[in-house]
Amino acid sequence: MFYRALTLLLPLLMAGTLLAEEALSPPTSRPNPHYEPLPFAPSLPDKFSWSSGKTEKKLIALTFDDGPHPQHTPALLDILKQYNVKATFFTVGKNVDRYPEIAARIIAEGHEIGNHSYSHGDLSKMSDSEIRTELDRSKDAIRRATGVEPKIMRPPYGGLALFPFQRSWIYTEYQYPTILWSVDPFDWRDRNSALISQRLVAGAHTGAILLAHDIHASTIAAIPDTIYQLQSKGYTFTTVSQMIAQKKNQKPNNDSQD
Ligand code: NI
Repeated sequence: MFYRALTLLLPLLMAGTLLAEEALSPPTSRPNPHYEPLPFAPSLPDKFSWSSGKTEKKLIALTFDDGPHPQHTPALLDILKQYNVKATFFTVGKNVDRYPEIAARIIAEGHEIGNHSYSHGDLSKMSDSEIRTELDRSKDAIRRATGVEPKIMRPPYGGLALFPFQRSWIYTEYQYPTILWSVDPFDWRDRNSALISQRLVAGAHTGAILLAHDIHASTIAAIPDTIYQLQSKGYTFTTVSQMIAQKKNQKPNNDSQD
C-alpha cells in the first residue's frame, strides 16, 4: 500500500522538487508546524498555482498576510505610499469585517487584496464544502468593504500545497490561482527587523513573491529598508496579479510568441 502510494506520488515529488528549490530557504530550526516552508510544490499548470512570476522584467511582488491589523496595516500603507510601492494583501475575512475601512484604504491606494479565507483555518484539512464557505465568506467581506472581488487566493499556512486537486477545482470555480511564495523571511518567528530585511533582500530574484505578515511591528519596521535596497538593485514592485499576467519570453513587437 505504501509502495503504491509512493509510486503515485513520486512523479509529483520529482516535479515539485524543481519548483520548490528556490522557494526553500533552509530552515534554521524547527518552527511552528503551521508555518513550515513547503516541503515541495507539486507541478501544476501555471494558471492554477504560482510560487513566483515568470516575468523576465525585473519585477517583484511584496505580499502581506493575515491583516488588516488596526495599527500595523495603516503604518505599512503610509510606508508603501511614501515609496510609491504597490503590494498585495492576503487579508483574513474576519479581520476585513472588523476593519473594513482599512481594507477600503488598501484598495483605494492601488494595492491588491487576495482571498486568504475567512477564519484562517488549514484548508487542506477541510471538506470541499467547508473550503467553499471559507472562500465565499472572505470574498463577501472583501466586496462589502471595498466594492471589489479578489482575483487570487493564498491558503493559510500554504495549506493546499500538497493538494493539486483542491487548487484545480478552486481555480475552476472561483478563477483564483493559488499564490504561494518564493521568499520566506520567517518574520512570524524572528521578530528582528534587520534580519527580516536581510532575508527578503538576499532571497529576492526576478519574479519573486515575497512573503510577510502585516500583523507584526517588526515586519513593518523592516519594510522601508527592504524597499530601498531592492529598488537600489533595480527591482520594480508590482501586485501579484500584474506580475503573473506577464508571460515568459514576452517581448514587445514580437508576434511569433504568444
Ligand atoms: Ni496566513
